Amino acid sequence: MVNPDTGDVYEHDPARGWITDKPGYKELLADKRIRWPENPRTGNPRKKRFLSETKERMPFSRFWSDLKGQSGADEVDEIMGRRVFAFPKSLEFMTRVLDYLCDEDAIVLDAFGGTGTTAHAAIALNKSGGKRRFILIEGEEFADSLTAERLRRVIKGVPKAKDEALQRRRVASGGNDQARPARDQQVVHELAGHDAGGDGAAE
Ligand SMILES: C[S@@+](CC[C@H](N)C(=O)[O-])C[C@H]1O[C@@H](n2cnc3c(N)ncnc32)[C@H](O)[C@@H]1O
Repeated sequence: MVNPDTGDVYEHDPARGWITDKPGYKELLADKRIRWPENPRTGNPRKKRFLSETKERMPFSRFWSDLKGQSGADEVDEIMGRRVFAFPKSLEFMTRVLDYLCDEDAIVLDAFGGTGTTAHAAIALNKSGGKRRFILIEGEEFADSLTAERLRRVIKGVPKAKDEALQRRRVASGGNDQARPARDQQVVHELAGHDAGGDGAAE
């Protein structure tokens, strides 16, 4: 491709392919909808996309400076009552990842479940709408005592937690497990190792 303003030639990269055909390209060119990087050797021409054309939200930045170096260790400690992992991912980080990448009714698979932050994030997001489900796989012995147990506690509520979102379930139900929605009861049941096949399971 040739930048008509500068005469710079941009070689076609066969590994990347084309996003349009020749007439489409000519249309974009006439409409000045092509962004030409300054250096043809280090950048590829791109189609300009306007905010008004994006369906639901702006393309997101992966540069989250506000989350720099944040660990989820304290969050997991609060739920489990002891230091279990030094550097689990933070809940806010995973919540943001799922919020950006998954539909509200997605089934989220984390094949490296660890402390269960991914599933915790799905549960947290569902509180403000959606029916995300999750499948976690964890190969270590702590799969039940930590991965699944964290999620059982998140679903049941952690009454002494500083984070109100963690206490909420118990406060709202006045400590009465029967008052929890049937769907949550089912997840707790499954996490306890009975009869998988519903909302979410950790193994
Ligand atoms: C970095 S941690 C996962 C963190 C987690 N995804 C999160 O968001 O907090 C990686 C986990 O994968 C587990 N793991 C590694 N290889 C595995 C395997 N082949 N099968 C199952 N679990 C595995 C490890 O035991 C470890 O707990």
